[in-house]
Amino acid sequence: MRQLKARRLRIVFPALGVICVLAAVTFPAAPQQQRALKDVFKDDFKIGAALNPGHFFERNKLGVEIVSTHFNSITPENVLKWALVHPEPKRYDFAAPDRFVEFGERRGMFIVGHTLVWHNQTPRWVFEDEDGKPVSREVLLQRLREHIFTVAGRYKGRIHGWDVVNEALNQDGTMRQSAWFKIIGPDYLEQAFRFAHEADPSAELYYNDYDLELPAKRAGGVELIKKLKAAGVPIAGVGLQNHNLMDWPSVADEDATIAAFAALGLKVHITELDVDVLPRTTKPGADYAVDVPVTPQLNPYVQGLPDAKQAALAKRYAELFQVYLKHRDAIERVTFWGVADGDSWLNNWPMKGRTNYPLLFDRSGKAKPAFSAITDARR
Ligand code: GLA
Repeated sequence: MRQLKARRLRIVFPALGVICVLAAVTFPAAPQQQRALKDVFKDDFKIGAALNPGHFFERNKLGVEIVSTHFNSITPENVLKWALVHPEPKRYDFAAPDRFVEFGERRGMFIVGHTLVWHNQTPRWVFEDEDGKPVSREVLLQRLREHIFTVAGRYKGRIHGWDVVNEALNQDGTMRQSAWFKIIGPDYLEQAFRFAHEADPSAELYYNDYDLELPAKRAGGVELIKKLKAAGVPIAGVGLQNHNLMDWPSVADEDATIAAFAALGLKVHITELDVDVLPRTTKPGADYAVDVPVTPQLNPYVQGLPDAKQAALAKRYAELFQVYLKHRDAIERVTFWGVADGDSWLNNWPMKGRTNYPLLFDRSGKAKPAFSAITDARR
């Protein structure tokens, strides 16, 4: 009897082993359960991502899954910029922005419009008459009003917040001498905010810029916001882009910058977060308009990010989130500029064709150590 039992067990156990192996092959173990970012930070701020057409036309299935799982706010990377949505005087192209807005609505997300007034990605015709001469202040104001009413008006009540003006300041805190500034004058910001408010009184309106962590630029930003507020402009928040390097800005600079704008009674939005891990050829503080040839030294991680760098990136993200969490009362939203590493503009800027690793999800959509580093920062 005993022998029989033993023999049965010898037969049963190997058979179970085979079944287990088969089961493991047929039903691979569920991926390790990650909490959704939007749930981890639900009591702190919204978690956003900048989307490209692959996301909102739902061609990039993996990207769509990540966005739907982890994010509760979206910003379009490009399709609402003037050059794309209003390429010719009498032609608007709303096919892509319509899809973008519907994508967010179907998922109950906070939808951000980016951007109504910028010196980049704005066609030349906006500033010129038929002979190529600069238009008058009145004509440009009229064009600005028409553009804002048409674009912000179309999504009235559906786009919840607008980056009304993007990047009006120089690195030293003075006003950028853009065509907007030169033709309309320093009050172009005030005018743009009023038009946007009239077009959609329910939308929150923001001023958005990069490198406001530079003390001089931050001081210029604070002055600018004070002037807008003194003029009675309905500004709800400031966007700190946060296109960061591994060692810039410092935690202290980020902390001081958030505090400076929060002290003005504004909500702070981190609007374009990423961390560039590749070598730069410009110094922080310079306007990074460089285009240099790519050498292997400038593109060192084509085969993958070494573990030590991956860990350093995770540490960098953790320290940034510690600052954001410290200011959770002032911060409304933290938006990443892209979803997975392969999407990022930093693969092509400031040089074309590099392999960069600036975000939380790798090229195959897998969460990187930086993901757990920021969720651990919440504990
Ligand atoms: C700026 C703009 C964004 C985008 C990024 C880089 O920060 O505000 O719209 O163009 O640069 O992709």
